[in-house]
Amino acid sequence: MSNGRIVAGCLAPHPPHLVYAENPPQNEPRAECGWEGLRWGYERMRKDLDRIGYDVLIVLSPHWQTYIGTHFLGVPRCSSLSVDPIFPNLFRYRYDLEVDVALAESIRDEAEREGLVTKMMRNPDFRVDYGTITSCHLTNPTWDKPIVAISSCRATAWYSVEVMQEQQLALGRATARAVAASGKRAVLLASNSLSHRHFTTEAAVPEDMSREHVTSHALYLWDMRMLDLMRQGKNQAVLDLMPEFTTQAISETDSGALTWMLGALGVPELPAEVYAYGTVIGTGNAVVGWYPPEVTP
Ligand SMILES: [Fe+2]
Repeated sequence: MSNGRIVAGCLAPHPPHLVYAENPPQNEPRAECGWEGLRWGYERMRKDLDRIGYDVLIVLSPHWQTYIGTHFLGVPRCSSLSVDPIFPNLFRYRYDLEVDVALAESIRDEAEREGLVTKMMRNPDFRVDYGTITSCHLTNPTWDKPIVAISSCRATAWYSVEVMQEQQLALGRATARAVAASGKRAVLLASNSLSHRHFTTEAAVPEDMSREHVTSHALYLWDMRMLDLMRQGKNQAVLDLMPEFTTQAISETDSGALTWMLGALGVPELPAEVYAYGTVIGTGNAVVGWYPPEVTP
């Protein structure tokens, strides 16, 4: 098959608070409300994605961390209980998800051609990280489509943001080629926050929104600078600024997720749709979509 295509690239952050506040049946803890701006932004993005139509979600999560190369989930079905290590009071989620192993293998093969170190994860008892689960749940709560899960190779930690970007742009090219050959319509999820300094204490009622705000004006300014570039379609400028932003804003973009996603889209001059910006325990989070012109919702 051929004629597959990436129909959307999304910035789809994964604070477990957002799933907690939605009260889905899979999650044990119950919430009264909370973080509506971000949750309703996700809701608007879901409607646009449903209008476009897609076959598979491809997600790169900062919380599946692999220090030797990029790994791909290669188990057809995964089910277990996912507990957030930092917020077990908010996220105890029973997942049961389907993996598009054929597409994962194809991206892996293309990544090898790019010279990247790769590995398929074949352990049937592998516990899927909460970042993958949260971003996929908020994008598609019915879980009626398979996913491809890609790890975060910690090149930023080992080397630098520049090395990370070189590798993630290669992974993006590999992803685009594999999707094109698959014949499928794919949505890419970069599962990361923007500024990422968070509070170290929690309110007695986690969804008490009187306690929610960005941790500092400096980090807010960084988030606005990046979102302004995205809204203008200056995606190469986003990548050019990434080393400084990642360092100064202690951003989860260190994972490579955003660089990978923009790379897979070909770093287009394409204005993004910012569905929402909001903070979660002080971290800056934006729900954003990039749609190639011919598939605009
Ligand atoms: Fe995270």
